[in-house]
Amino acid sequence: MLAPQQTWWKPLHRIERSWVLVAFVWCIFLTIMMPIWFFMGRQNVPVTTYRVDAETYQQLVADFVDQYQVDTLSGVPVVEPPPNSDVYLQARQWQWYPVLKLKKGETYRLHISSLDVQHGFSLQPTNLNLQILPGYDYVATLTPTQSGDFALVCNEYCGIAHHLMVSKIIVTE
Ligand code: CUA
Repeated sequence: MLAPQQTWWKPLHRIERSWVLVAFVWCIFLTIMMPIWFFMGRQNVPVTTYRVDAETYQQLVADFVDQYQVDTLSGVPVVEPPPNSDVYLQARQWQWYPVLKLKKGETYRLHISSLDVQHGFSLQPTNLNLQILPGYDYVATLTPTQSGDFALVCNEYCGIAHHLMVSKIIVTE
């Protein structure tokens, strides 16, 4: 016989039972907190999403750059759109395009889309992160509250030069 002869299961000891109870209560608490924190935590970027194909989006970005370009930075256009306007940012292997120049305290409708694969929009040192998928236009209302240069990195592995996919957003006073 291969079955163990001795009694290998006994009722839980009182202390072990307490620990199982603590773990169970904690699980329930965290499960309840997930939906509550979604609304109360003020940590989710309010984003609306629309379907868009790469050609259409690329054209929107090109028109936007034509209209508001003020400078060039490392070969990439720097674009300064007026407040309350639609602002377009394009992600592709392996570049953010264009460089945005925004004004502190003004509100913009920021559009982001990818022309090829999934990228990750991560604005440093703020904790602002968005997943950017091709075929979708992510629209977020953005009001910069601090001036300065904010580094923009891709935090989703998107190919061989993923680590070079860096840019910045400039916020002026
Ligand atoms: Cu784009 Cu990593």
